Amino acid sequence: MLVVAKLSADHGALMDPAASVWQPIKSTALALEATPTGTQPTPYTRTSWKDRKIGAVPGVGVQAAHDGESIFVRLEWVDANENRSVEDNNVFPDGAAIVFPVKETAPIDTMGSETEPVNAWQWQANSERGRSVVAHGVGSTEPSTEAVDVAAVRSGDHWQVIISRKLAGADGSVSLNPGGASRFGVAVWEGGNGERAGFKGYTAKWTDIRLADA
Ligand code: HEM
Repeated sequence: MLVVAKLSADHGALMDPAASVWQPIKSTALALEATPTGTQPTPYTRTSWKDRKIGAVPGVGVQAAHDGESIFVRLEWVDANENRSVEDNNVFPDGAAIVFPVKETAPIDTMGSETEPVNAWQWQANSERGRSVVAHGVGSTEPSTEAVDVAAVRSGDHWQVIISRKLAGADGSVSLNPGGASRFGVAVWEGGNGERAGFKGYTAKWTDIRLADA
């Protein structure tokens, strides 16, 4: 169970991965596994990754806070190989995303299902803007309209990233409530390993979360 702390710090501090406001917040270590090749949507991608290691980043530290209006998730992981752009078609920008079930029973290992959508919020090292997508199973991601705020810094060989969104979501995306509970997962793309889209390290099980309300 990860508790999303309630903080009254200003929005700017919570959006700063290096701000002291994050220091007292407990960090939870989550292990990342390779996404399964068998469920990748195209035969080409299934074959081209058959003998390659997927999920170069083995784990991520997660901290989370909310201020009654927005949630802020701080991710930190080791990636000595900093990739901010697409190069030669085999290097992609580093990235990370968090995902929530929109319908409680949604499976994580297929990014939801036809009747059980998930909502993921993504950071990519080549963009200042975050992205929100809704998926109804592998190969079905569609952009969703809410703004996702992101910020990232390098600290030595670490990425420190904040992904934030308003607690209240639009139709079709997840809504969170102070005092309420949900579950979430994390994915990390190591762009230097050619990881993008379905190829990434991911938490194979949901982690329960609870939002503090005071
Ligand atoms: C914690 C779990 C996961 C998260 C947070 C996550 C997040 C995302 C996000 C944000 C995208 C859209 C952005 C992009 O294409 O770069 C995406 C795309 C994709 N994901 Fe996932 N994902 C997760 C698990 C999985 C798993 C287990 C698979 C299984 C193979 C998978 C397969 C795909 C595929 C194929 C795409 C490409 C877009 C599409 O075809 O719809 N994902 N994922």
